[in-house]
Amino acid sequence: MLILGIETSCDETSAAITRDGRILSNVIYSQLIHTRYGGVVPEIASRQHIKTIMPVVQEALSRAKTPLKKIEGIAVTYGPGLVGCLLVGISWSKALAYSLKIPLIGINHIEAHIFANFLEHPKPMPPFVCLVVSGGHTLLVDVKEKGNYRVMGQTRDDAAGEAFDKVAKLLEIGYPGGPLIDRISKKGKRDFVRFPRAYLEKDSLDFSFSGLKTAVAIYASGLSKTKINRNKKDIAASFQEAVADVLIEKSIRALRVAKSKRLGLAGGVARNSRLREKLEAKAKDLKFDLYYPSYELCTDNAAMVAACGDFYLSQGIKSDLSLNAIPYAKISSI
Ligand code: KG4
Ligand code: ZN
Repeated sequence: MLILGIETSCDETSAAITRDGRILSNVIYSQLIHTRYGGVVPEIASRQHIKTIMPVVQEALSRAKTPLKKIEGIAVTYGPGLVGCLLVGISWSKALAYSLKIPLIGINHIEAHIFANFLEHPKPMPPFVCLVVSGGHTLLVDVKEKGNYRVMGQTRDDAAGEAFDKVAKLLEIGYPGGPLIDRISKKGKRDFVRFPRAYLEKDSLDFSFSGLKTAVAIYASGLSKTKINRNKKDIAASFQEAVADVLIEKSIRALRVAKSKRLGLAGGVARNSRLREKLEAKAKDLKFDLYYPSYELCTDNAAMVAACGDFYLSQGIKSDLSLNAIPYAKISSI
């Protein structure tokens, strides 16, 4: 089945073509305009999607060498995400599906992130535990099978990526913070400051990163600008280590609870080199399988949306034209 996937939930306009769940093209336009504001400005992001969605789709069709009339279904993210941004993708997809007389399916963005793993692992992976860590979400999901999920734990405040972005802002490292902190931390001392790790109640699989962010802010407020600048990479590395430690500890707890030996990663923070490095070592040590998508498929992209759409549409599950944006959509089972 040839599927056109559309993703516009935040600041990436993306379109992809998949055939039977395999990528033919995956075009991602990242809105760099937000860099100057130090964060995503929702209204600007929506307007940018309107401008770029058409050329991005055309490029995806051209790279896939697929004419529009061959597309058999459209999959579009309906939430969670920024409402204005979601509406651009949804309205556009509805209009196209209606005019081409092909089915439309609304896709949950968190589920799509999980599907990024299936795009690259030829053998079907489930059951496994998936750590979904991005700018908007941090949760542990028991993926029993495709379409059958149980949320085991989630953040009670900030998402891990959000913490990276906020700490980068307060240390004046730049935006988006995650990749920049990752880069400068490579030369930093991870034990320069012992920031707190919020493990919460015994056995809890929830997360909390707002205390860590505040701890970095309090630490930095006691230092001169010169000292911060001199030790920026050390503070960044110490912060990153604290985030990685918590994510890893909770993931291992979740594997135990789910009696699973398979861990998948998803979302932008799954790109983090220290998280991957420490998890690789743990996986060897504790003998569990570790999967993560390639770089491009960790952050927001339409290939993961198309792959998820392929799964539903091939079972005859589709949305109608009343499909609407749900900014706080939760992941649910079919
Ligand atoms: O999945 P994504 O593109 O968007 C959401 O669904 O939120 O994730 C974006 C987030 C941002 O917070 C960004 O700072 C973070 O992923 N990120 C990273 C890295 N690359 C991206 N965080 C830590 N280390 C990285 N290398
Ligand atoms: Zn995302």
